[in-house]
Formats: sequence, structure tokens, C-alpha cells
Amino acid sequence: MSDIVVTLSEQPSWPALADLYRECFNEPWPLVSIENLLRPPGCWAQLAEISDRDLIIPAGFALARVVHDEAEVLSLGVSPRFRRRGVAKSLMRTLLSCAREKSAASLYLEVGIDNNAALTFYKKMNFKTVARRKGYYRRADRSQVDALVMKIVL
Ligand SMILES: CC(C)(COP(=O)(O)OP(=O)(O)OC[C@H]1O[C@@H](n2cnc3c(N)ncnc32)[C@H](O)[C@@H]1OP(=O)(O)O)[C@@H](O)C(=O)NCCC(=O)NCCS
Repeated sequence: MSDIVVTLSEQPSWPALADLYRECFNEPWPLVSIENLLRPPGCWAQLAEISDRDLIIPAGFALARVVHDEAEVLSLGVSPRFRRRGVAKSLMRTLLSCAREKSAASLYLEVGIDNNAALTFYKKMNFKTVARRKGYYRRADRSQVDALVMKIVL
């Protein structure tokens, strides 16, 4: 049985994060964008690693920020190799406690209405839909997809 360990950082390893992002979303995210996204105060990154015997393997990540009393999940993904093993759940538990420590009263996120895995996951974590954004995402085939804004009270 392997363990999931989630570490927090305000200055994470950018190349490791970019590699994970590519794996999780199957699309590149230029390093510079990740760095710029996390530059403002109140942002943080979480890395979930699976330790299996002598190996420690990056399995998932989350990026978040807090502004005043509102926290927001900027991005969250788990490598296809490690899905359905509770990695996202571990990342979310850490996100929730970190947002509380930073005095946030609620945590928001956006999710595409076509993303069944993420929608099921967020509902399971007790997020509630509070708004819908028309045509918020543009997919690789150029189609536009609505996003749901979801919220959990902390
Ligand atoms: C959505 C995602 C983060 C889930 O990560 P994960 O580590 O596999 O999730 P967990 O193992 O912690 O799952 C927790 C629960 O979420 C739900 N869930 C997760 N993946 C699911 C799927 N593919 N289908 C249905 N329910 C799913 C289940 O209820 C699951 O509990 P269970 O395994 O006991 O049934 C992952 O599929 C992913 O990275 N997808 C691509 C990136 C993405 O869409 N990110 C979110 C953008 S808003």
C-alpha cells in the first residue's frame, strides 16, 4: 500500500509543476504563466506525492489563492496514472484547512459542465453550484463550454 503526502509551498519547483500540469490536463502550460499566476501575495501551491517503497512520485497538484475572506482554487489535477486513489481528496482536504488558516470564509472554483469526473468529485466534497458562466471554456475543438461556479463555506 502506498502513502499520499501533500506538501505546501509558496515557491514550488516550477518545472515539476509544469510537467504535472501537462500530464494532468494533456496540454502545456508555459512555465512563465504558472509563475505569474502564483506571484501575487496570498497564492500557494500544493504538491501531492505518492511514496511507494523507496520511490517518491509526483501525483497531483493544486494552486490556490486567498483575497480578503474568499479563497479560490486556480487549478487542480491528478496524473492519470494515480487517479481514483484519493489523491484529489487529499489535495482538497489540505486546500480547505489551508484556506481556513488564512482566514477565508469560503472557497470557490470553476468547472466545465462537460467535466464529469471533476463535477462528481466537487459535489462529493460538498461544493454547491452558485453561478453558471456561459461559454467560459474553449476546448481543443474550438467548442465553447459553460462553467459552473461552485462554493463551499469554510
Ligand atoms: C477530477 C480529478 C482531479 C479527480 O482526481 P482523483 O485523484 O482521481 O480523485 P479521488 O480519487 O480523490 O476521487 C474522490 C471521489 O471523486 C469522485 N470521482 C473522481 N473521479 C471520478 C470519475 N472519473 N468519475 C466519477 N467520479 C469520480 C468519486 O466520487 C471519488 O470517490 P471514489 O473513488 O471513492 O468513488 C482528476 O480526474 C483529474 O485530474 N482530472 C483532470 C483535470 C481536471 O479536470 N481537473 C479539475 C479541473 S476543474
